[in-house]
Amino acid sequence: MSRSLVPTIPPAASRPGEAISPAAARSSTRHENLNLGFAIETGAVGANLDLFAEGRRLQARMIQSDQRHFLFDSLPDDAFARSACMAVARNGDEVFGTVLAHPDADGALLVRTLIVNPAYAGLRMGSALASAVILDAFVRGVSFASVTCAVRVLRDGGLNKPSAKSLDRIGFATEPGIHKARLAGTLRDRHLVPTAEVDEFGYFVRYVRLRGVRAEVVDRSVAMLAEWRDIPIPLDRLLAE
Ligand SMILES: CC(C)(COP(=O)(O)OP(=O)(O)OC[C@H]1O[C@@H](n2cnc3c(N)ncnc32)[C@H](O)[C@@H]1OP(=O)(O)O)[C@@H](O)C(=O)NCCC(=O)NCCS
Repeated sequence: MSRSLVPTIPPAASRPGEAISPAAARSSTRHENLNLGFAIETGAVGANLDLFAEGRRLQARMIQSDQRHFLFDSLPDDAFARSACMAVARNGDEVFGTVLAHPDADGALLVRTLIVNPAYAGLRMGSALASAVILDAFVRGVSFASVTCAVRVLRDGGLNKPSAKSLDRIGFATEPGIHKARLAGTLRDRHLVPTAEVDEFGYFVRYVRLRGVRAEVVDRSVAMLAEWRDIPIPLDRLLAE
């Protein structure tokens, strides 16, 4: 079953050894009062197929848009195989945001495929979605030591700033060093080929790694969601869409 907005924080006794911050404890009682049908739902990919399908549809639309060069695509079998957690943001029936998270090979929780429809840009929806999926993984007992995300660096050296800002707000910082991801030209990455760089081994894109310490990111995610509930929604802009 999917959960609405902030996942319920379980009592301390159910998570031995895990400290609950005062902010987390407060948040468990403060998430029912949604404005205008705005909601974030979370769920595990394998157990919430409808939710997953809705997120995938938004992802497919973004891969067709002028934002495609920022997206490292993720295929459904990947998300299933890794038992990914997911969150979607909706305004009534419209799904306008999505994100996935699962452990990576190094024991970090990898946040990926963070997408917000540009009509909703600048409302901290990216931060709220990332917060929701991280807290969902946390309360499900997913094991992770830190939280990480790859953010594209463009050919001219420009960073995907909205993405970095969304994550910086909840405790991520950019690690030194720029990495290369090789493109195979498959369904998963062919949308990146037109903006990719090329060397003797073929096409590649560059990215930086953002990382946050688990306890800090969890606390800031709780605070972010509490704050996000009170962000004014620019109705004129959304009604004009
Ligand atoms: C990255 C993304 C999810 C951020 O979503 P978002 O909800 O707009 O994020 P935020 O509201 O937290 O905004 C982050 C920053 O984006 C900038 N921004 C981008 N568009 C904006 C707009 N129309 N109005 C205001 N700010 C905007 C602002 O600088 C903002 O920071 P600020 O509020 O401190 O000034 C979204 O831009 C997106 O879907 N991009 C395409 C896919 C992508 O890049 N995904 C990330 C892969 S790592």
